[in-house]
Amino acid sequence: MTRIGSSDLSVFPLSLGGNVFGWTADRDASFAVLDAFVAGGGNFIDTADAYSAWVPGNSGGESETIIGEWLASRRPEGLVVATKVSQHPQFRGLSAGNIRRAAEASLDRLGVDAIDLYYAHFDDETVPLEETVAAFGQLVADGLVRYVGVSNYSAERIREWIRIAQASGVALPVAVQPHYNLVHRNDVEEKIIPVATEFDLGLVPYYALASGFLTGKYRSTDATGQSSPRAAGAAKYATEHGLRIIDALQEIGDAHSASITATALAWLRAQPTVVAPIASARTADQVPDLLAGARLELSAEEIARLSSVSAWTPAQV
Ligand SMILES: NC(=O)c1ccc[n+]([C@@H]2O[C@H](COP(=O)([O-])OP(=O)(O)OC[C@H]3O[C@@H](n4cnc5c(N)ncnc54)[C@H](OP(=O)(O)O)[C@@H]3O)[C@@H](O)[C@H]2O)c1
Repeated sequence: MTRIGSSDLSVFPLSLGGNVFGWTADRDASFAVLDAFVAGGGNFIDTADAYSAWVPGNSGGESETIIGEWLASRRPEGLVVATKVSQHPQFRGLSAGNIRRAAEASLDRLGVDAIDLYYAHFDDETVPLEETVAAFGQLVADGLVRYVGVSNYSAERIREWIRIAQASGVALPVAVQPHYNLVHRNDVEEKIIPVATEFDLGLVPYYALASGFLTGKYRSTDATGQSSPRAAGAAKYATEHGLRIIDALQEIGDAHSASITATALAWLRAQPTVVAPIASARTADQVPDLLAGARLELSAEEIARLSSVSAWTPAQV
């Protein structure tokens, strides 16, 4: 187990992504995934109020509702549930009133008294940051939220958030959730990790498997004929360079009898400030690889080799 930043939230070092619940996993499949995750030692679940509003017939909140029903039926001990605000079709943006109403709706769907970790999902520059920071602080002061996080924020805006929270004496963020994996490194390593290091923020990267590319199941950029709705997003990485990364993952994984998936997650876990990569599973069968990724320890040479084969060109300044 590991701790998220300066919080006292103790989590398994792999967070189970919830955007599949109510999308590629129906209620029964979602329950099976959640059961397998917890049976294997997992305790950290990531969702958002907006999941999965993009699915025809859905209106947002489906993932939280499924998680809430599962919590009510299983009553697991020591679970840490993170959710987010700003993208639900009925609760868009980060005005104070919207944050409050969205949080109350999430609490209701999840069936809990407090949200363990509540993220601002995307920055909303139409609202003064002072208003947003104060609204998150008030939720913590009122006991509806235990800890605050930010997702998809620039380094500058994270600094600004922290400056405002310090000046006004409200809860500081403890976690940052960026898009980060072996095929998407630049911005996070150049800008976000330095801020996370400076302010003791735990990094909780999403798309840890590049939507499935880093499982090794996409060997061509042509997604035609692939059944998964994620295929186009994942297959685009299957370039010559992308496939060299997969080959290195396979070779290193083989030395540990570990899958490509587990090896990719282990590399991410080894990066500075990373607390728990987030990855989702559509079926219970996919869960053991995710759990293995939380436990696999790569050597310094193996991590260096993966960093080298996935090397990126720093931005010109
Ligand atoms: N903060 C944000 O803005 C943001 C944005 C996106 C996601 N997220 C969070 O991050 C989580 C993870 O992102 P993601 O779910 O989109 O992508 P991901 O974790 O990179 O990819 C997960 C997908 O890979 C496939 N997979 C997983 N394990 C596998 C295995 N063992 N073997 C073969 N295939 C496997 C499954 O897709 P198939 O259906 O192809 O099998 C699974 O749904 C989300 O659930 C969400 O909680 C946050």
